[in-house]
Amino acid sequence: MSDEGKYIDGHMARFQEELFDFLRIPSVSARTEHNGDTRQTAEWVAEKIAEAGLTAEIIETDGHPVVLGEWREAGPDAPTLMIYGHYDVQPPEPLDEWNSPAFEPTVRDGNIYARGASDDKGQLFIHIKALEARLKTVGSLPVNVVVLAEGEEEVGSPNLVPFVEAHKDRLACDAVVISDSSMFAPGQPSLLFSLRGLAYFEIHVEGPSVDLHSGGYGGAVVNPGNTLSSIIASLKNDDGSIAIPGFYDDVLAWTDETRAAIKDLPFDLADFEEEVGAPGLDGEAGYSLLERLWIRPTCDVNGILCGYTGEGAKTVLPARAMAKVSFRLVPNQNPDRVADLLRAHVAAVAPPEVKVTVEELHGGRPWKAELEGPFFEAAVSALAKAFGKSPVLTGEGGSIPIVVDFQEILEAPVLLMGFAPPGANMHAPNEWIPEVNVEQGIRAVAQFYSELES
Ligand code: BES
Ligand code: MN
Ligand code: MN
Repeated sequence: MSDEGKYIDGHMARFQEELFDFLRIPSVSARTEHNGDTRQTAEWVAEKIAEAGLTAEIIETDGHPVVLGEWREAGPDAPTLMIYGHYDVQPPEPLDEWNSPAFEPTVRDGNIYARGASDDKGQLFIHIKALEARLKTVGSLPVNVVVLAEGEEEVGSPNLVPFVEAHKDRLACDAVVISDSSMFAPGQPSLLFSLRGLAYFEIHVEGPSVDLHSGGYGGAVVNPGNTLSSIIASLKNDDGSIAIPGFYDDVLAWTDETRAAIKDLPFDLADFEEEVGAPGLDGEAGYSLLERLWIRPTCDVNGILCGYTGEGAKTVLPARAMAKVSFRLVPNQNPDRVADLLRAHVAAVAPPEVKVTVEELHGGRPWKAELEGPFFEAAVSALAKAFGKSPVLTGEGGSIPIVVDFQEILEAPVLLMGFAPPGANMHAPNEWIPEVNVEQGIRAVAQFYSELES
């Protein structure tokens, strides 16, 4: 076994304790009451990066700080690799659905349960510990390394593009590696060929100046709840496709080769159904389940606010209604264009007797990988050696908006190598990561550096 491998064996118990310390700090970026915790988490990450043998610095932004780790002793002629991850997490609610508290990491059946276990603290930790194992044994890396850990990914990274632009020279690199996604199946390593993008909106419908008696006024006054429902219903066709004119204009038709590769993946429908727990599934006609998740766009209501929702019946015609509606986008759709198309569609279907507005929340562009080059090759071999199985190429339904910006601003390819289990409960109660994924992940990343050596 390699020296790094022995080091990982010898230190795994301490690694686990440290990961638990990381998971205990509630770095909920969306909540101002957690600003202190979020900063403390940044300091914790900086300390661990420094202990691993890199320099570490906390850099302020207009929001939560960025942690930057650097190791540049490979010299100016060696390539530079950037590792990106996020130390912030989603809010833990609903709290009563957790089997153990969200910020008290607990092991059950070899799995670590805590908010951030998979998304993304556990996966960022894997990289820090792989660097430590390497630097404490071999003492060097074959490439220069920059670690960029941000604290605002879960709120749409509002300050990261300006940060990357402002520090373009310092962040210059030949490739970016990100571990913030899932493995295709337990023990089956994966590299991503795509990520979906996101366009997120609030649709507001305003009618009468106050709530009205639904008997005294219903039938003569437009009901914003009814109008909002019609607007939502108008977004999709019966075959599951999206009904907004022009919406599919930029949708990439993937090659038969990619579609065949997706079809060949050993997908277990029964597992998926059990994980979801719904009476049935949904989707666009003509596409398989994985295609619907990875290479086709979607439209979903995320929340609706309207009228009386308390106990019993209240006969009321609500003055206003609001829905949060998001679209997952695929290459080469653009969130700004989708916003224009949605506005035009809503204006065309909404009656003039109510006021309808569409507000943009956050957006992110979809991404398509370049599946080649020395970093890609090294990742394939490293994953194969660490997991004893060659990685499969998969798509991903979720979004990491900064990926496309890295590619454009830094002109470097991005590699997505995920270590979360499928069904990790990211953003949901009982988020988890198997202990074995943390360990194999550290081994795989340490091996990745060895592969880059040869
Ligand atoms: N890590 C996720 C994205 C993800 C989830 C990738 C599952 C692969 C598998 C990331 O932290 C996330 O939650 N992204 C948000 C983006 C949004 C906040 C702009 C998403 O996808 O909803
Ligand atoms: Mn994430
Ligand atoms: Mn997330």
